[in-house]
Amino acid sequence: MKALKEIVSGPVFRVLGYRPQTVSVSTWDKEYRQGDWNYLEDIGSIAGQATILGYCQFLKPATILDVGCGAGALAEKLKLLPYRAFLGIDISAEAIAQAAPRADFRTTFAVSPADGFHTDKRFDLIIFNQCVNYFEDPAAVMAHYRALLAPNGRIIVSMCETARARAAWPLVEKHLAVEDAITYIQAEGRGTTKVLRPRR
Ligand SMILES: C[S@@+](CC[C@H](N)C(=O)[O-])C[C@H]1O[C@@H](n2cnc3c(N)ncnc32)[C@H](O)[C@@H]1O
Repeated sequence: MKALKEIVSGPVFRVLGYRPQTVSVSTWDKEYRQGDWNYLEDIGSIAGQATILGYCQFLKPATILDVGCGAGALAEKLKLLPYRAFLGIDISAEAIAQAAPRADFRTTFAVSPADGFHTDKRFDLIIFNQCVNYFEDPAAVMAHYRALLAPNGRIIVSMCETARARAAWPLVEKHLAVEDAITYIQAEGRGTTKVLRPRR
């Protein structure tokens, strides 16, 4: 069924261009309450998270912003890094309530839509893990967050390989240049994680 959907949606995205996967905030909250996203904590979700962890280990960011952080599954993995401050934001209050027990003196979480997050702070690294395909306008979101990067800062975007993600990547890269990328395969899924920098 999933494979069939992919076969049909490929040409649709090629003709119509990118369309977001629309999910209401109340649906996100309900799905987190029901445990629908608990699998992000399972062994089958490690590959994508490991690519981000590896890049973080290399880049050594002191400050990290994780947009669409969900219940903090990635935050938990990144705790072994020597970052100074990690902030996770998500549109779902339920996801952030589930992330809250993971907060500590370096790690905080807040409810915010990606396009409504404003701060005077600047970040060495901004992560979008498996969430860009839900954004109405990925290019505008990347332009917004590019302005929140500290000097020499990077953005990491990771997406499972789907027809929608293939349509989203050019929008992600409209204002950002790819420095490096890893494509991973785990179980029946594959995905790509890219490290990006502002285009000059
Ligand atoms: C597939 S989940 C991934 C969660 C997390 N990044 C992880 O890998 O564990 C997608 C997340 O994006 C969040 N999200 C979707 N649209 C958003 C938006 N416009 N602003 C902020 N978060 C959003 C959802 O609430 C959800 O937690």
